[in-house]
Amino acid sequence: MTPIQKVIKEKNIDLKPIWLMRQAGRYLPEFRKIRAENTDFMKLCFNKILSQEITLQPLRRFNFDAAIIFSDILVIPFGLGQDVKFEKDYGPRLGSFNLNNVLEVQEIDFTNNLKPIYDCLKSLRKNKLLNNKDLIGFSGAPWTILFYMLNKKSPKQDSSFKKFLKKENDIFRLLEILEKFIKIHIKNQVESGATVIQLFDSWAGLLSEAQLKDLVFGPTKRIVQYVKSLNVPIICFPRGIPNYENFVNEVIPDAISIDDMTNPEIAAEQINIVVQGGLKPELLLGSKEDLKKEVMKYLGIFKEKPYIFNLGHGVPPNTDPGMIDYLVKVVKNFQ
Ligand code: CP3
Repeated sequence: MTPIQKVIKEKNIDLKPIWLMRQAGRYLPEFRKIRAENTDFMKLCFNKILSQEITLQPLRRFNFDAAIIFSDILVIPFGLGQDVKFEKDYGPRLGSFNLNNVLEVQEIDFTNNLKPIYDCLKSLRKNKLLNNKDLIGFSGAPWTILFYMLNKKSPKQDSSFKKFLKKENDIFRLLEILEKFIKIHIKNQVESGATVIQLFDSWAGLLSEAQLKDLVFGPTKRIVQYVKSLNVPIICFPRGIPNYENFVNEVIPDAISIDDMTNPEIAAEQINIVVQGGLKPELLLGSKEDLKKEVMKYLGIFKEKPYIFNLGHGVPPNTDPGMIDYLVKVVKNFQ
């Protein structure tokens, strides 16, 4: 069994596996070089040779316990026929959305559209660098994907989503479709060699308690049950929600990734499944002393619990790779 599987399936408390969200990305000069030569980000995600290379870049430098496939959550709208572009200093920009077109998409066409991702996973699984390591597949959760499809840009640009929530029937039809295709995307990744699945609900924090129940808990719970039936662990990351305990009790994932607003002591006490993450990403931009102090705090709090080390969100693009090296060493020395 791989390290994360041991923590999740056997509740191992001696291993404290470490991987980081956005461990492959702009803080690495070798990523920036490939990115500069490949200005179309979506094309890069569908280049199975380069996406394999980018996935492996952090593992060549650091002793991480897992690789996460280099891809994006917005491959789902792309696979459903919506145009997706990334613009410099703006972020994602999606094309026009038509519910009837999306309702007509067939499973086989969706899978064909995303085939390079599955091919990439298949060859990664055979790579020696991944011996005894996890290969993490992922998807966006229905709410976050729905948000991007209808808002057509990041909420950092415009978060006034109440206008599209008014079309209630359409929202629930789209959520159902997304649930179906997210399950297909996950199944395809598991069949291609992913040993763990992470579900990113990056914009769950925009919703009220009542909206969370309707738009997040229900569809996510059904996806979690489905992934459990595939016998692969699923980690949920509903970023920014006020009450992780509620989410865990309703959705019952195998593990929960906490953000940096979540008090780790309370999480360790009240959450009865495996916890992942939590460390403030900005600590990577400060001193080694401060970083070590906080890392030791998390490791101390979760010493007697099954825990996966990670951040509360992605690695900041301006991180010095030396700080990642230091972080991994501190975590590994603790074991
Ligand atoms: O290393 C990894 O974590 C794996 C690869 C990965 C990427 N995106 C690559 C990427 C993963 C897991 C994601 C998930 C993702 N993508 C999320 C969920 C996690 C989160 O950050 O909340 C979201 C919301 C997206 C959508 C997305 N992709 C946005 C909003 C942006 C632009 C903002 C930004 O950071 O520039 C991206 C681009 C993106 N996805 C980059 C990378 C490495 C940066 C691309 C670049 O070089 O410009």
